[in-house]
Amino acid sequence: MSKKLQKDLKETVKFLQKEFKKAPDVGIVLGSGLGNFASQIKIEKEVPYGDIPHFPVSTVKGHSGKLIFGRIGEKIVVAMGGRFHFYEGYTPQEVVYPIRVMKMLGIKTVLLSNAAGSVNPDFKVGDIMIIKDHISFFTPNPLIGKNDDDLGPRFPDMSEPYKRTLIQQAKAIAAKNKIDIKEGVYVAVTGPTFETRAEYKLIHVAGGDVVGMSTVQETIAANHMGLPVFAVSIVTDIGIRDDDNIITHEEVLQAAKEAEPKLALLFNQMIAAI
Ligand code: HPA
Repeated sequence: MSKKLQKDLKETVKFLQKEFKKAPDVGIVLGSGLGNFASQIKIEKEVPYGDIPHFPVSTVKGHSGKLIFGRIGEKIVVAMGGRFHFYEGYTPQEVVYPIRVMKMLGIKTVLLSNAAGSVNPDFKVGDIMIIKDHISFFTPNPLIGKNDDDLGPRFPDMSEPYKRTLIQQAKAIAAKNKIDIKEGVYVAVTGPTFETRAEYKLIHVAGGDVVGMSTVQETIAANHMGLPVFAVSIVTDIGIRDDDNIITHEEVLQAAKEAEPKLALLFNQMIAAI
């Protein structure tokens, strides 16, 4: 990593620490259609991305584009209302920039969420799936380039990209609250096209359960820095079907919005237990 990135990160962190004095415990990334989760936060400070030095700016419908600082119960959280996607034209390094910033602000855990299409016949629209592992379907690795040993190692281990203890905790919370929760493998694609029928089939055969356009680059950057990750997908559409299903962004946002209360319960209780 370049000296410039180090300098930029330091400036961003310094700016945010002036805006909000307390160190957050947990970072949260809200996926497409899941921005309502922000209403769970007792908001103490909101900083639009455009005001933050060196931050990319979000452009996608359904993403509000601000960093939200506040409390959930006793815990101090920082949430990204909207994330940066590779398909928007950001570099993989830009996509993961906020994850690095949140780590440097002091978070000890990051919770990621996304909307995804299912290729698992046992899943239905509205299901929550805990991500236990991932496959990058040609999404560029954000660590390509000179390594910064201050951030993490050259060749990070990825045998447990999603922290097992957090997965156990999530399953226990789901069982207690009678939420039917799935678990599976997230396949990351670049987008912005949804997949062809042949691609959905390939993703299924390759061992994927759901497919989406985010999360994996963020997870890689978090693992690089030794930051534990918990991530969930909301199933917003079914990729493998024999009828003429056409997938739209509106349908994805609507399905995510409807499933959001389940996600809120899960994240709230996880944050309390962290
Ligand atoms: N494919 C890729 N990304 C997605 C999908 C999908 O079917 N649904 C929501 N995000």
